[in-house]
Amino acid sequence: MKPEAFTIRSSRPGAPGNGPGAFATGALVACLALAGAAGCLPDAARAQSPTPVPHHSWSFTGPLSHFDMAAVQRGYAVYDQVCASCHGMTAVTYGDLGGMGLTEEQVGRIAHAHHVRAGTDATGKPASRPATSDDHLLSPYASPAAAVAANHGARPPDQSRLAVVYPGGVDRMRALLLGYGRSPPPGTQVPEGSFYNPYAVNGLIAMPPLLHDGGVTYADGTSPTAAQQADDVVTFLAWVAQPHLEERHRTGVRVIAFLLVLLVLTFCLKRRIWSDVH
Ligand code: HEC
Repeated sequence: MKPEAFTIRSSRPGAPGNGPGAFATGALVACLALAGAAGCLPDAARAQSPTPVPHHSWSFTGPLSHFDMAAVQRGYAVYDQVCASCHGMTAVTYGDLGGMGLTEEQVGRIAHAHHVRAGTDATGKPASRPATSDDHLLSPYASPAAAVAANHGARPPDQSRLAVVYPGGVDRMRALLLGYGRSPPPGTQVPEGSFYNPYAVNGLIAMPPLLHDGGVTYADGTSPTAAQQADDVVTFLAWVAQPHLEERHRTGVRVIAFLLVLLVLTFCLKRRIWSDVH
């Protein structure tokens, strides 16, 4: 049997496979391929992990959701104690952390405990000073090249907006953080400086496994299991990327309530105006 079902036979102008339409489609495909190769497309269009990502239920997804601020604060502890040694968060200041429900004094204490680069001292050596609320959470590396050199040729991405731009979103981020330690499928080469992780693109990532039970200290006494740390740090990264999400949800609910009231009033008005017409 000939595979006729798979051949496009159409004589309509503009249909796929014919005339200017085909040319346009071809050109579009070629442009997309070029753009993809040149890195112009968002990662979501190019790179997806081969393994399906398990769904996790978060406090902050859904129209009436809110951030669990205790989790956001614990997540900052994980970021600070683990992630900050490689990842910066340059769009965020220490002052912004006040939005997690901290007092000005607590924010000041956090800032003061960190140091930022401050030019050079009298002898020409790089100098630093304690941070203030206006300082940004900078990358620990002096330059992008230094970050690449320290991480086997891969650069730890800035985490200011990572939770919203990361392909696969928060579920995949959580799965990735907890996805180490499995054996790669037979035949997979894991080069020096790479780790097998089924949720990474092509199953390989230059970031080492980081979350271990008891690996961080939580101020609120929550048990710091690896899964708890992953949930908390991802919640923190989602909050930092969209700190006004709750406000926007609340505004949305108010707008819809207002429109519903308006609808009822308009309906009553319409009945009244037309009630005299016989
Ligand atoms: C030892 C350095 C180091 C630490 C600490 C670290 N990372 Fe990374 N991270 C990297 C590197 C390097 C990459 C880039 C990996 C690549 O492109 O292969 C990366 C990439 C990522 C990515 C993107 C992964 C991808 O698919 O491209 C996420 C998400 C991430 N890190 C989250 C975290 C979180 C959350 C923490 C803290 C719990 C953390 N990282 C701590 C080095 C680190």
